[in-house]
Amino acid sequence: MKVSILYHSVSGNTITVSELIKEGAVQHENVEAKCMSIEDLDLDFLNESKIVFFGTPTYSGSLTWQMSKFIETSKINWKNKVCSVFATEKHLGGGADFAELSVIAHMLVKGMFVYSVGASEGLPYTHFGAVCIQNGSEDEKQVERAILYGNRVVKNVIAEFKL
Ligand SMILES: Cc1cc2nc3c(=O)[nH]c(=O)nc-3n(C[C@H](O)[C@H](O)[C@H](O)COP(=O)(O)O)c2cc1C
Repeated sequence: MKVSILYHSVSGNTITVSELIKEGAVQHENVEAKCMSIEDLDLDFLNESKIVFFGTPTYSGSLTWQMSKFIETSKINWKNKVCSVFATEKHLGGGADFAELSVIAHMLVKGMFVYSVGASEGLPYTHFGAVCIQNGSEDEKQVERAILYGNRVVKNVIAEFKL
């Protein structure tokens, strides 16, 4: 099963988190995951993916305008793929949750299934998706949460969709 991890990133933090999510995703058998900038997509891989993670930095308390433009202007058929989101921010409470919800709102309109595991599997919770302050790589808990996020989302989608 293919898993695409799409990100927008200027200073690299969101790339770092996308790699952590990939690390968790590929812990399952027969899963191939690819991190891709929204500016440099492997369209064949993306079209064949059942799960698409979207990662955005937080700009002014929301998703970046580049991610918004990408979603609005791309001609990709998102229908019936699973959408899962993550966001980075600079400050605790800087708006990453709202950035994630904004991506989710877009992707509901595009006909995707939205999934975050939430609090259903105990700590660490990933309410709307994984959030990292900056790239999170110097904080063991943030690293653990991002890896586990990739792992849990993929595990449950495989089980529920019988993939
Ligand atoms: C134009 C701009 C607006 C930003 N607005 C916020 C914000 O509202 N809240 C916040 O916590 N961080 C904000 N940041 C910080 C970024 O969200 C944070 O550094 C992020 O991890 C950058 O991701 P990247 O390294 O992948 O580009 C802003 C950064 C920029 C450049």
